[in-house]
Amino acid sequence: MSGELLVAEDDAELASLAAELLARAIHDAVRLRGRARIALSGGSTPAAAYRALAALDLPWADTEWFLVDERAVPPESERSNFQMAREAMGWEKLGVPPTRVHRMEAERVDRAAAAIDYERALRTSFGVACATCFDALVLGIGEDGHTASLFPGTGSVAIEDRLVAAVEAPNGLEPRLTLTAPVLREARLVLILAKGAAKRDPVRRARGPGDAEEIPARVLHAAQGQVVWLLDRAAAG
Ligand code: 6PG
Repeated sequence: MSGELLVAEDDAELASLAAELLARAIHDAVRLRGRARIALSGGSTPAAAYRALAALDLPWADTEWFLVDERAVPPESERSNFQMAREAMGWEKLGVPPTRVHRMEAERVDRAAAAIDYERALRTSFGVACATCFDALVLGIGEDGHTASLFPGTGSVAIEDRLVAAVEAPNGLEPRLTLTAPVLREARLVLILAKGAAKRDPVRRARGPGDAEEIPARVLHAAQGQVVWLLDRAAAG
C-alpha cells in the first residue's frame, strides 16, 4: 500500500491533524529555506482544515500559496476553488502579501495561455533553474479516483512536459487548469484528505497497485516526498 495512513475519529480531528501536518511543513520550510510554498486543492473536504490552519500562529509573511487546480468559472463563483480557499484561509487577515497568493485564471477563453502564465508564476517563485518542489500540497480524491484535475481516461496523468495543463473534465464538469503529475510527485509533503464511505473504494484502489490512467491518484506511488492519506473512519473502511 502506498503512503502513510492516518485515520481521524471525526471531522474536527481530521481538520486539526491536517492543520498540524501543514503547520509543521510550513515551519520547516521557513526555517530551512526562508519561505514555505503550499498548493491547495478545492472540493468540499479541505475547507475545515484550511480554517484550522488559519487559526494557528505561523510565519504567515513568509508563506506563498498556489492552487492545485481550478475550474473554468469566475473567481467569485461558488464553484471556484480559489474562492473556497480564500474564504477558509483569509490570507489578507493573516498578513500574507497579496503578491504571494496565486489564483489560476481558469475562466480565461484561452486556457492553454492561462496554463503557461501559471507555469511562469511557478518558475519565477521557485527559481527558473530549480525544480517546482512544493513544501506541502493538499489533494483530494474523487469517487472516480481523480486527484487534482487529473481525471481517468483523459490521458492527463501522462502529461510530463508541463507544470500546468489545461484539461477537460468528464460528466459535464467544467474544463480545468491543473498542476501535472510531475509536480505532484515532486512535493516534499503530499497530504490527501478524504471523508465518507463513497471514498473508501477509490482510496483503496489508489493505494493499491495498477494503472494511473484508470485511477489517477496512483501517480503518487512515484512520489519523491512524504505521502500522507488522512481519512475519516468511513473512508478508511
Ligand atoms: C476539484 C478538486 C478535486 C477534489 C476532489 C475531491 O476542483 O474538484 O480540486 O480534485 O479534490 O474532487 O473533492 P471533495 O473534497 O469535494 O470530495
